[in-house]
Amino acid sequence: MTDARLAGPMPDFAGTRAERQERAQRWFTDSELISVTAEHEARLTRFFGLATFSVGMGKLGRAPRRVLEVGCGTGHQITMVANMTAETEFVGIDPSASAIERARQNAPDNPRLRFRQLGAEDLADASTAAGIGEFDLAFVNLTIALWTDPVSGLRAVTARLAPGGVCYVIDLVRPSDPEHAAQFLSGAVNEAEKRYLLDQMAAWYTPRELEELALAVCPPGGGTSVELTYRTLDEYAVDVVGGAVPLNESTMDGLGTRRGHVCHLFLTNNRSDGGS
Ligand SMILES: C[S@@+](CC[C@H](N)C(=O)[O-])C[C@H]1O[C@@H](n2cnc3c(N)ncnc32)[C@H](O)[C@@H]1O
Repeated sequence: MTDARLAGPMPDFAGTRAERQERAQRWFTDSELISVTAEHEARLTRFFGLATFSVGMGKLGRAPRRVLEVGCGTGHQITMVANMTAETEFVGIDPSASAIERARQNAPDNPRLRFRQLGAEDLADASTAAGIGEFDLAFVNLTIALWTDPVSGLRAVTARLAPGGVCYVIDLVRPSDPEHAAQFLSGAVNEAEKRYLLDQMAAWYTPRELEELALAVCPPGGGTSVELTYRTLDEYAVDVVGGAVPLNESTMDGLGTRRGHVCHLFLTNNRSDGGS
């Protein structure tokens, strides 16, 4: 099927934020479309997952006791990282029943890894999130643009951070020129993946929206500190990965390798008595 949005030099990001977010999210809830996204996630997993985990660990500065992945999708990244560590406990959450079902199927029998069907916003409700506990590191990888209420969602996540704990939000920035858009689309291996990436791209935040979001989540003077940067992922990750994984345009599928195309938001809990 051809997509009219692919015809012009610049994709058309039509609709309100809520409409674009809903179009992007259906790729994770529709039982047929999720096959396209699961395959794309599986391809990116090794490099993106390892790189983001390394950056988060570097920021935390110590081995995490408990790690949360918010919006874990089909669980490829968290499963890979859980299998590479010996003692850390991992919890992956996602509101999509299809994604959690696949995550449980994909995960080997690892008693340190659990999945729960929850959205970020659900963490604010003590009874819904009962028993989930607190975390040293929370990853929010390529998901924030899909959340219906990112401010409450991120507040709920940071409230689950142990003292000194870090929430690392990494996402892609909505393209503002045709070359930027084309670079993202170049990672697609077929038309279905192109349509998937176009829908995701339309939901991504602009730098200005990200700054507003960060301020709304953590107003100055609160117990959570904020750092928002736009470095490339390899600039951050090569040091911490120690060169073990060559992060470049081909291994990264073209994602996050150009300055300004990827944003990193670090929310650190500075309180000594738990969540903010
Ligand atoms: C692009 S996938 C990312 C999967 C994984 N983090 C990765 O990087 O491979 C986005 C995931 O975010 C999930 N999501 C959507 N809304 C969410 C919310 N409010 N809270 C948490 N996750 C959400 C979707 O269901 C989807 O599985």
